Amino acid sequence: MDGVRGLPDSTSKGRWLLYLLAITAAVLLILLMAAQTKGAASVTLRRAGPTFAAEGELAATLAQLAAQIEELKALAEKQLEASVQQGQDLSSELAALQQAQQSSSQAIAAELAALKNLTMTRNQQESLAHLQATFEGIYAEHAWGTDGNGSGSGSSLNKTVHTRELLLKRIIDLKARSMIDVPCGGMAWMPLVLEQVERKQPGFRYLGLDIARPVIEANKVTFRNKTNWKFDVKDMTRERLPKGYDLIHCRDALQHLSCPMIVNALHNFALSGAKYLLVGSYDAQPNQNIKSGDYFAINLRLPPFSLSNPDAIASENTPGEENKLQLLYRISELAKKDFDVMRLGCDAL
Ligand SMILES: *[C@@H]1O[C@H](CO)[C@@H](O)[C@H](O)[C@H]1NC(C)=O
Ligand SMILES: *[C@@H]1O[C@H](CO)[C@@H](O)[C@H](O)[C@H]1NC(C)=O
Ligand SMILES: *[C@@H]1O[C@H](CO)[C@@H](O)[C@H](O)[C@H]1NC(C)=O
Ligand SMILES: *[C@@H]1O[C@H](CO)[C@@H](O)[C@H](O)[C@H]1NC(C)=O
Repeated sequence: MDGVRGLPDSTSKGRWLLYLLAITAAVLLILLMAAQTKGAASVTLRRAGPTFAAEGELAATLAQLAAQIEELKALAEKQLEASVQQGQDLSSELAALQQAQQSSSQAIAAELAALKNLTMTRNQQESLAHLQATFEGIYAEHAWGTDGNGSGSGSSLNKTVHTRELLLKRIIDLKARSMIDVPCGGMAWMPLVLEQVERKQPGFRYLGLDIARPVIEANKVTFRNKTNWKFDVKDMTRERLPKGYDLIHCRDALQHLSCPMIVNALHNFALSGAKYLLVGSYDAQPNQNIKSGDYFAINLRLPPFSLSNPDAIASENTPGEENKLQLLYRISELAKKDFDVMRLGCDAL
């Protein structure tokens, strides 16, 4: 008998194992509490969409921990039985048990710390109803004017002359066969681009998404004869985008969202399975954390977004908005960004 101190005979070995069982039970209890906290978090995260990845990892780690603790419990029971029956040497098993129990506790503490971070992210979320009411209200009240079919004067025909040329050129150069346009808004200028694309690339598929329900209903009616143009209500800050599209186009949108919602949208684009993102940005600084529905001149190349390596940068040459840019990113590059760090960066604005 050597190695583990405080185990002079098989009776005290049995007592030790009972202690271990008690510790295991306590660990199980902590695990249960952690799982419950996680359950509460996941209810809200389910609406958050882009935070799904973190939730999945957490669930896998907790399941691993649960299995480990079940193993521990079974081993402790087996050893207790053996020690009662015969005075065999259990020192190495006991040491292993103690070590496993210790690392389980550490892992659970780490999980709980991670949960705290997720909860903080959750608190940054705006409810879908609030965001939808904000943008539906803007259209209903013509808060951005009547130019551009309610989407703002930046969407009027004579302000989008160069924008239209630029988008057409990008679609053709990228050999894109399909595009998600989010948000599509009142479709004041996009039809002119799409009709030219279709002349060059028959069968081009277009999907216009917007959070404002009346806008989508109006577009469905206006473009009911366009078999390759589809429209759907979608909140890009928390609902996954449909798969099977080459290009995501997002113009005049992110500058109207709160910082965490912008990060959610970028994260969503990264998870979309598309090949490219064409996104509006400004040559401006610094970034701000606004109330969704307001406006700031967003610069995606600066913190907290720091998307500093676009594949292409083009000026839109928009009259009156000379610093307005269109950036091109490969989704595979965007997907390498740490969106949780970006979310935390929003708090620093
Ligand atoms: C929680 O967030 C902080 C930054 O605020 C970070 O340093 C820490 O590593 C995070 N913890 C976990 C467990 O993710
Ligand atoms: C833009 O269009 C509006 C009418 O839609 C017109 O009043 C205005 O003069 C135009 N501006 C330019 C620069 O062409
Ligand atoms: C845009 O304008 C057209 C023509 O005025 C109208 O039929 C359509 O409903 C409008 N769409 C939206 C989204 O307001
Ligand atoms: C749509 O198609 C219908 C017949 O399929 C036709 O009568 C109608 O004029 C078309 N509308 C437009 C705006 O092209």
